[in-house]
This record gives sequence, structure tokens and C-alpha cells, in this order.
Amino acid sequence: MERPYLHIKDLKINFHTFEGVKTVLNVDEIKIKKGEAFGIIGESGTGKTVLALSIMKLLEMPPGEIESGEILLDGDDLLKKSIKEMEREIRGKKVSMIFQDPMSTLNPVYTIGQQLINVIRESKKCDKNTAYTEAVDMLNTVKLPDAERAMDKYPHELSGGQRQRVIIALALSCGAEFLIADEPTRNLDVTIQAGILKLIKELQTNLKVTVLFIANNPGLISATCNDAAVLYKGEIVEMGTTKEVLRNPQHPYTFTLLNAVPKDKDTRIDLSQVIPPDDTNIIRGSCVYYNRCTNKIAKCEKNQKLIRLEGTHYVKCGICNGGGMNE
Ligand SMILES: Nc1ncnc2c1ncn2[C@@H]1O[C@H](COP(=O)(O)OP(=O)(O)O)[C@@H](O)[C@H]1O
Ligand SMILES: [Mg+2]
Repeated sequence: MERPYLHIKDLKINFHTFEGVKTVLNVDEIKIKKGEAFGIIGESGTGKTVLALSIMKLLEMPPGEIESGEILLDGDDLLKKSIKEMEREIRGKKVSMIFQDPMSTLNPVYTIGQQLINVIRESKKCDKNTAYTEAVDMLNTVKLPDAERAMDKYPHELSGGQRQRVIIALALSCGAEFLIADEPTRNLDVTIQAGILKLIKELQTNLKVTVLFIANNPGLISATCNDAAVLYKGEIVEMGTTKEVLRNPQHPYTFTLLNAVPKDKDTRIDLSQVIPPDDTNIIRGSCVYYNRCTNKIAKCEKNQKLIRLEGTHYVKCGICNGGGMNE
């Protein structure tokens, strides 16, 4: 098999808090092929952002701590790189990240044009006129209406959806070949959201950008990604092609997530309203979903392994894995 573009292995991340050490991420394996879009789904607080930040080496340490693991990008372990090397070779060069709040990424005191031109001049070492033309081209690539006029605008003069398009333009104009999109449409209206999803899909198909797309709504993943993993309390509980995971879900948590998707396109749903928190009476070493699971059986009191069901479909569940056969 061809080497994955991104290969995460046995990644364990802890946070040191007043209550003690808390493991927030314990991922067995994620493989993303070059040019592919991979989706991560899970409710709030499940470790999605921690995962994204750890790839960029932007995790605040301490309180964060990487206990073990490897994050191989094109075969190169990012965890072994210094911050300087990350800045010189990776961040905003090979890999760019789009956050859920575009205002936190754009600088309010510079126009869109100034910000794009700076990034382009820095990465391509070109003159201002060339950078200007490229910036306008890039705004057209991300389908920002009236690109030339937008160059003179400040971030607050654009709508949320337009700002997110500018962020994507910024991410791509430095030549990044890998885009990490952390809930990029969370604060947007449904129709605007659809436009951004379409754009990300087009960038992946036309420009062959590799994408890690993070969402709390499986519907967004099915629209954009080839493969997907469901994250619960920092662990992958189900993984496979998007079709395997979302059309033929096996883990009870994936079912819950799918049932939480509103039938009516225009309503938004807050997963915390659907799935209650469950931090009480946790059995140490049990399956991560033990407390919430309504189907649990005796073997679920033990931690479960991610096991291949068929094809590329993996699941971490005592019931799915043969109801007692797979100790
Ligand atoms: N700086 C931090 N200190 C302590 N705990 C943190 C910190 N950042 C994140 N966490 C914890 O890590 C877990 C995962 O957080 P996060 O990755 O932001 O979740 P998600 O992006 O899935 O909503 C949460 O339980 C959160 O409380
Ligand atoms: Mg997050």
C-alpha cells in the first residue's frame, strides 16, 4: 500500500489539571492518503481540536503533554520537530489550519488585500504587483464575489461566509498542500455553510489539496469526505470510508450522532441537548462509551480494541465485536 500522507500512530495526549492528569486523546491510528479528504466527527469536548493542534504543534504544553505517539507527515515525524522547524517547514507552508472563528485568524486592522499580499510575498518572495495579481486570483479561486473590491475591505466589512473564504484563500496562498479545517462552518448559516463545504470539496478535487475536516455534524462529513472517524472521549470508536461509517454505522455512539442530525435542514441542533454528559460512575478501564451505552454487556466493562469488521470498516465496541467472542 502506498505510504499515507498523514499517518498518526498511538497518539496519547494528556492535560495536567487541578483535578489531576486527564487523558484527552488516545488515538490508535489515522491514515490519510494524499489528496484525500478525511473527516473527524464527534461532539464538543471530545478532543477534535486537540488532535488538530497537535498536528500543527500548537498545543499549549504545559498543561498539555504528549505521552506517546507519532504524527508522520510524508514519513517525517512532526512530534520530533522543533518549533523553529515547524515554523520554517510546516506551519503555513505545507500545512494550514482553518479555525471555526474566522475573526480570530484575520487581523482586523489590515485590509484583506494587505493580509493576502503579505502572505504571498513572504512565501513566494515576489514583488508587490505579482502578489496583488495572485491575491485576486486566489480570491476568485475561493469564489469570493467581486474579488478586486474585496481586496480593499477590512474583515469586519465582510460577512461570516466571505471571511471564511478569505481564510481559505490565505491558507492556500502560502502554498499549503494540506488543509486542516476545524469546524469551519460552525458559525455560519446553513446556505452559506453549504457553499463553504462545496468549496472545500472543489479544492480537494481540483487542486488535490489533502483535507482533514473536523465537524460535530455527520452530515457535513458525508458531503465532503472520502473517509471518516468517529471520536468519542478522545478515542476512535468507528472508522472507515464515509459510506461504511455513515450508511452502515455499527457503534451505538455513531447511531446517536446520526439520530441527532436534524431532519429539517434549517434547524441546528446542539448535541449537548441530545446526549447528556456522563462523567459520573465511570468504571475505570471500561469501554469509553460504557456509561452512555444502552446496549452494554458484561465484556464492555473492559476496554475495547478497534477491530476490523470488514473492508476498511473498524469499530471499537464489545457488542459489535462478537458479543463476548473477542476478549
Ligand atoms: N488548555 C487545556 N487545559 C485543560 N484541558 C483542556 C485544555 N484544552 C482542552 N482541554 C480538554 O481537552 C478535551 C478536548 O478538548 P477539545 O479538543 O477542544 O474538544 P473538541 O474540539 O472536540 O470540542 C476537553 O475535555 C477539554 O476540556
Ligand atoms: Mg473544537
